[in-house]
Amino acid sequence: MSGGGFAGFPGQSGSSASEMPPLVRRPDPAPSPEDSHPVSDPLPFQRPETVRPSATQAQGDVLTEVEATEQLGPTGRPMPSFPEPPPVGDGPTRARVVSMCNQKGGVGKTTTTINLGASLAEYGRKVLLVDFDPQGSLSVGLGLNPHEMDLTIYNLLMQRDVTLDDVVVPSGVPGMDLLPSNIDLSAAEVQLVHEVAREQTLQRVLAPALDQYDVILIDCQPSLGLLTVNALTASDGVIVPLECEYFALRGVALLKQTIDKVRERLNPRLEVDGVLGTMFDGRTLHSREVMQRLVQAWGDTVFHTVIRRTVKFSDSTVAGEPITSYASSSAGAGSYRQLAKEVLGRWPAE
Ligand SMILES: Nc1ncnc2c1ncn2[C@@H]1O[C@H](COP(=O)(O)OP(=O)(O)OP(=O)(O)O)[C@@H](O)[C@H]1O
Ligand SMILES: [Mg+2]
Repeated sequence: MSGGGFAGFPGQSGSSASEMPPLVRRPDPAPSPEDSHPVSDPLPFQRPETVRPSATQAQGDVLTEVEATEQLGPTGRPMPSFPEPPPVGDGPTRARVVSMCNQKGGVGKTTTTINLGASLAEYGRKVLLVDFDPQGSLSVGLGLNPHEMDLTIYNLLMQRDVTLDDVVVPSGVPGMDLLPSNIDLSAAEVQLVHEVAREQTLQRVLAPALDQYDVILIDCQPSLGLLTVNALTASDGVIVPLECEYFALRGVALLKQTIDKVRERLNPRLEVDGVLGTMFDGRTLHSREVMQRLVQAWGDTVFHTVIRRTVKFSDSTVAGEPITSYASSSAGAGSYRQLAKEVLGRWPAE
């Protein structure tokens, strides 16, 4: 459902023609005045410049180009080290609410919600995951059967007598709970259109969770409709997972516009916590070029951590658990733990 009835924000079908990249890479395209955002315009890729050693270095210190490149992280920038997160303080905290958002499907939103959540829980954070997608992939990915759910986030949104505690279920990961969802949620998008303060509905129902959790992660559906606007209105931050693939860059300008509009009109505290490259394959020039485009466009908003492509993510979904427990010592689990450290370093002190 694209939320076409929601005036003022673009739905899935709102992409302008100016966002379409060419079918072939043109060497020197004329920039379009309507499409000035660097991510969406079809500029050709450029190769990294700074990693080539000088001739003297190459001869004298036997420093090869490969060695010099290896000192850089997968985003082409020097890789910082991320400190171990300190334990959560004893004092009262307000949860940080973060949406995983990208209207493109299959980019790793749900995978990131589950595994970042599980990694944050390993670091002692009390985590609530919110499945805000009628596909219910987050709930299924944590082993729930969509046909056997008594109450879901739909009931919490639409029925005043249903409380948060009625709907929250344990996720199977210590320290991490889940607000499940199933196809019922698709009806909420239609019904909410007639509600007063329709964009603030999720924020209202999540309010009692703010002092019970340290982090609330919302898994958005692949659309920029009313449900996603609700998620952004309820959030302090947005993480944008982006597949390291050329066509993944399409539509990012529209997503950025939506975030800006929500910040201007509904939620001034909303910030972009980071852009996360997913399904990265360091062996291909293509993945590295896409990463480089991202850094050119978004600068330090792009996380140093990238998530590599591995079949273990699909396997762990089938197993109904996060990769951090399914394949705890795998590279994928390690990447999400590193992302948790990087994210905690970016968020304001708890
Ligand atoms: N790093 C990765 N390497 C390989 N496969 C991955 C990776 N991340 C996710 N996947 C797989 O890609 C598919 C899509 O991932 P996921 O469901 O997380 O995307 P999504 O953005 O939530 O999709 P949707 O928009 O439909 O909600 C899943 O089968 C998942 O297991
Ligand atoms: Mg998903």
